[in-house]
Amino acid sequence: MLDWLKKRYWRLREWARQDARDWLIERLPRQSRLRWRAAQQEELDWWRRFLESGRWREHADPKPLPGETWLEHRRSVMGRWQADFDLPLSDWIGQDDLVLDLGCGPYSLVRQGRVIGLDPLAGRYGELVDLAADRDVTYVAASGESLPLADERFDVVWSRNVIDHVRDPAAFVAEAMRVLRASGRFLLTFDVVSEGGVAHPHGYIDETWVRRTVRGRIIGTYRWPSDEMMVVVQKG
Ligand SMILES: C[S@@+](CC[C@H](N)C(=O)[O-])C[C@H]1O[C@@H](n2cnc3c(N)ncnc32)[C@H](O)[C@@H]1O
Repeated sequence: MLDWLKKRYWRLREWARQDARDWLIERLPRQSRLRWRAAQQEELDWWRRFLESGRWREHADPKPLPGETWLEHRRSVMGRWQADFDLPLSDWIGQDDLVLDLGCGPYSLVRQGRVIGLDPLAGRYGELVDLAADRDVTYVAASGESLPLADERFDVVWSRNVIDHVRDPAAFVAEAMRVLRASGRFLLTFDVVSEGGVAHPHGYIDETWVRRTVRGRIIGTYRWPSDEMMVVVQKG
């Protein structure tokens, strides 16, 4: 009984803390550094709960195969999307391409080309997973709005489920285009139905916004069943 009461107490305390934090964040200006930092803390907490509790084994999408590790699962995701949803990712990312995964999360999903995975939380993700174990990808901690990377270097920039998290979506797109070679492609994917919540301050991003904001030709749009959309932008 005492244990049950203690558990209830801690859960209530956690809810109250979370509500107070959400209430405060909702009142901060969307592009403020303070709000973005709080949203990033929320993001990190989400991944910690997801990975440490083992919940990813039940809830990762696509579902992991029996015995698969988190890294093996991340490595397999894009191939499985291609097969399951007829998403022609290999048409857009060549084996020799230099690829930037912008906002890659804990292990990049990209397994074609030579990959640099960039995320402001890369250092913190390194506490949750062993980034060095992922020998196919070089990880860099930085923000998409100000990339520590030279102009016109990458063949492909891939960014999935990131743009509604960033502080300044227009600056994020401009930086992606800057680091692309003249013939490069920006594969921008985002949720069509926003989850909302403090970790997604820019849930309004949609195809119209992308068309208005990117300077480049849109040469492909794909929608896949998990309510995500990919827009392919050709720079030159
Ligand atoms: C929902 S996760 C997506 C991770 C990964 N792309 C995937 O599809 O699994 C959103 C990621 O965006 C990153 N992010 C937030 N603000 C960012 C910014 N300004 N520049 C680059 N990445 C950012 C977060 O740190 C987080 O890892």
